Amino acid sequence: MFCGQGWAQSLFASVLILCLLRPAVTVKHENFKTCEQSGFCKRNRAYADRAATLGQSWSSPYTLVSDSIKIKSGHVTGTVLKSLKGDTAESVRLPIKITFLQSGVARVTVDELKRQQKDIELRHGSSARKERYNEASLWALVAEDKPDTSANGESLNQETSVNYGPQNRYRAVINHKPFSINFFRDDELHVKLNSNGLLNMEHWRAKVDKAEQMEGEEPKGEGEDESTWWEETFGGNTDTKPKGPESVGMDITFPGYEYVYGIPGHASSLSLKQTRGGSGNYDQPYRLYNSDVFEYEMDSPMTLYGSIPFMQAHRGDSTVGVFWLNAAETWVDIVKRKVSSNPLSLGIGGTSDTETHWFSESGLLDVFVFLGPTPKDVIEQYSELTGYTQLPQQFAIGHHQCRWNYVSDEDVKDVDKKFDRADMPYDVIWLDIEYTDGKKYFTWDSHTFPDPLGMQKQLDDHERKLVIIIDPHIKNEDNYPVVSELKSKSLGIKDKNNNLFEGWCWPGSSHWIDCFNPAAIEWWKSLFAYKSFTGTAPNTFLWNDMNEPSVFNGPETTMPKDNIHYDNWEHRDLHNINGMTFVKATYDALIHRDSPVRRPFVLTRSYYAGSQRFGAMWTGDNLAQWSHLAASIPMILTHNIAGFPFSGADVGGFFGNPSPELLTRWYQAGAFYPFYRAHAHIDTRRREPYLLDDPYKEIITQALRLRYALLPAWYTAFHAASISGAPILQPHYYAHPSDEAGFALEDQFYVGSTGLLVKPVVTESAETVSIYLPPNELYYDYSTYSIHHGTGRTTTLAAPLSKIPILMQAGHIIPRKDRPRRSSGLMRYDPYTLLITLSPNATAEGTLYIDDGESYNYEEGAFIHRYFSFSENTLTSTDIDDAMQSNKGKKRRDYLNLMDQVRVEKIVVVGAPREWVGKKSVKVVEDGEERSVELGFTRGSGGRASWAVVRDPGVRVGRGWRVEF
Ligand code: GLC
Repeated sequence: MFCGQGWAQSLFASVLILCLLRPAVTVKHENFKTCEQSGFCKRNRAYADRAATLGQSWSSPYTLVSDSIKIKSGHVTGTVLKSLKGDTAESVRLPIKITFLQSGVARVTVDELKRQQKDIELRHGSSARKERYNEASLWALVAEDKPDTSANGESLNQETSVNYGPQNRYRAVINHKPFSINFFRDDELHVKLNSNGLLNMEHWRAKVDKAEQMEGEEPKGEGEDESTWWEETFGGNTDTKPKGPESVGMDITFPGYEYVYGIPGHASSLSLKQTRGGSGNYDQPYRLYNSDVFEYEMDSPMTLYGSIPFMQAHRGDSTVGVFWLNAAETWVDIVKRKVSSNPLSLGIGGTSDTETHWFSESGLLDVFVFLGPTPKDVIEQYSELTGYTQLPQQFAIGHHQCRWNYVSDEDVKDVDKKFDRADMPYDVIWLDIEYTDGKKYFTWDSHTFPDPLGMQKQLDDHERKLVIIIDPHIKNEDNYPVVSELKSKSLGIKDKNNNLFEGWCWPGSSHWIDCFNPAAIEWWKSLFAYKSFTGTAPNTFLWNDMNEPSVFNGPETTMPKDNIHYDNWEHRDLHNINGMTFVKATYDALIHRDSPVRRPFVLTRSYYAGSQRFGAMWTGDNLAQWSHLAASIPMILTHNIAGFPFSGADVGGFFGNPSPELLTRWYQAGAFYPFYRAHAHIDTRRREPYLLDDPYKEIITQALRLRYALLPAWYTAFHAASISGAPILQPHYYAHPSDEAGFALEDQFYVGSTGLLVKPVVTESAETVSIYLPPNELYYDYSTYSIHHGTGRTTTLAAPLSKIPILMQAGHIIPRKDRPRRSSGLMRYDPYTLLITLSPNATAEGTLYIDDGESYNYEEGAFIHRYFSFSENTLTSTDIDDAMQSNKGKKRRDYLNLMDQVRVEKIVVVGAPREWVGKKSVKVVEDGEERSVELGFTRGSGGRASWAVVRDPGVRVGRGWRVEF
């Protein structure tokens, strides 16, 4: 019955209110699995619940057979037996190998004997490999497993104990029954594997048809709910699971640790949250299953485009870590339990244990344990294993301008000119998918881009570069040579029936290159040769997108798990590595393209542990909203501490139209992203920053110039990352590992080791920010030199729109270049400014790394690496790489000669001592010659520090010298 007008009105009002309250866009949750919808996630969580319910009476069915153990040359090997419920005679044999590496890292690998021996049957006539996937390490790791042959161990009373690591400070105690391992550093327990008994290797078993089962007989196997074992359907797509259930899971506990970080990428906090419900916690585990998540939501453990299964646990003055090397879909549950370290302390000194539970759909159990003791140590060890960030070309750390799309070569040239007219520096302009002829990669749309080389010539005139997009889906269309070759050479990913897989992406019907196939990589390389890909030039670089891979009509917008790759591995086994193999192929292609070789630049959306070796990543399709600007900071920090510092987020937000204020704040924050690129969706309004009115335009210009002025410091930080894995942005816990009050801080950070402390404004209409300053540290404001004493509390800084809140921690020397130019290439021989922030005892130090920013000549000594120190009123520049002094190679000689013209044009000393009042000059000593140079001193007042300026000391940046104040 019709309820009358009143009803209709109130319905309309409610709908209106709902529409107003609902965010404009939200992720389509129904497109992605929850844990309950992912069979193995549900099973492993149920396993954990059963263990928790049974408590003390739960016993893990895994035993390390004492007689099988061999301890030799840094390895412990043996067999773990999994006893099957209700059938004590039958058990599953799981070969285990524990390796103690020279770096002090321990690696635990467990496989399944029957599958190693290929003694299983696959269902549905599948051609998939029978082994558990054992090639993740081939892609993710760079370091050979160099075992520490001095590691020594012995077995006694159901326990094997091994001492290893630096000065034998580490010890692994392996309990045989039930199997578990405890890791000690200096006799203190830090990491526990399987202490909660959640180790679960779902062994292969034949499917027993219910009809074949005798009536009343217990189901074979574990008598569990089999509903998710043999087939899974989601979103209309059925996974045939030819190997049945095969997940691997285990609990990893960090006793006494309350904070854990890492496992990107998620739009979540830096300090990871608990995932088993409760106020402020998630109720889903963090998921790692590389996916193209449209309009992803904030503060969520949902999976995103890339996965790095590396986690650190931190507490006052101690950091440890684990790396779960598995390329299949993975979930991680986190629970923190309060424990009182001392029952007599009546609550004082209470600490927490963090219990994590990891599970992957297939593959080996392969875990690395890092024992620290500092965040720096853990990240260095992890990076040594998976490789360091590539040292990028100088241009790659400048400002990038992208949009979907610049519509023609004339459009690109016009944008380029307009940046110049506005005096806004930029290095790279980008072309999205529309530059191609009908989304066929390696072609140009001849109507809109008739003259790509002419366009690139104009860019090159100011040393600018072009980045073009190439995705892994290859359009399935007649008369397209690339797809014809892919087919004829059989280089694509296959479907479950071993036919070339076909799906939908930007071009419509497409096939996907299988970069696990060495022949596919060779072919890919040939496509980038200048003579094949006409219209490209030496200043053309690459963007690899959609490489999760994104398949519009596939399950969870990706590939069916029963698809088949090179060497017959199922897609399920290697999904999270897929994106990395594609980027590696492009990287190899760029290496191959140029002679002499130059450093490639490739941006990727999808990534895995190890991807840092091949280029930069960005956080995908964010929204032009303040919340997304705010979230970009912890997201980028998380990548920085997870070995992948060359990271950024779309400046301005991809979807939607940012207000001028939001855009301005985003350019300011982005000036401190390691990867600084503005990007926008095809449906958005044009927003090149020169289009804005003042004051926005002027303020953005200042932010861009600040980025360029600090490029020497950025490049030095990238160099440090490239040799040690050091984060380029350092979160508080990393820089101040004993200052507990700051362990969850995620909205402020340091730039490399410069002492620059930045707190970007990420809220609307802000006039101030509050910044936390640790105790006993002294800071100066970057622009006013006002003094701030750290007290372990927050302090308020002015942050009008024109200002990026930046403090300088006292005690550093920051290299800068202060002459504004159009691009970083044009700054190559510009003179330097050294900005010195004196500590209370009038000392400071810093470093500067310089090379040609382009080639690999630095590997032959063509670089300058200086250490600057200030003490006893003297600034000294010394060579860091003494070993290179004896390198008389031509490349080094030529480079140093070339750079001999480059000088330090200014030295600024902030916090200059009062005794300098009245001092008129300093003594400069270089090459045994002395000269006097003028000193200007400004007395600080109103809370500002005094500062002094030496103008044109004339010292050469590549030489040793000193300046006596
Ligand atoms: C994806 C990318 C986005 C790009 C678009 C078109 O959504 O994440 O950056 O603009 O594809 O290629």
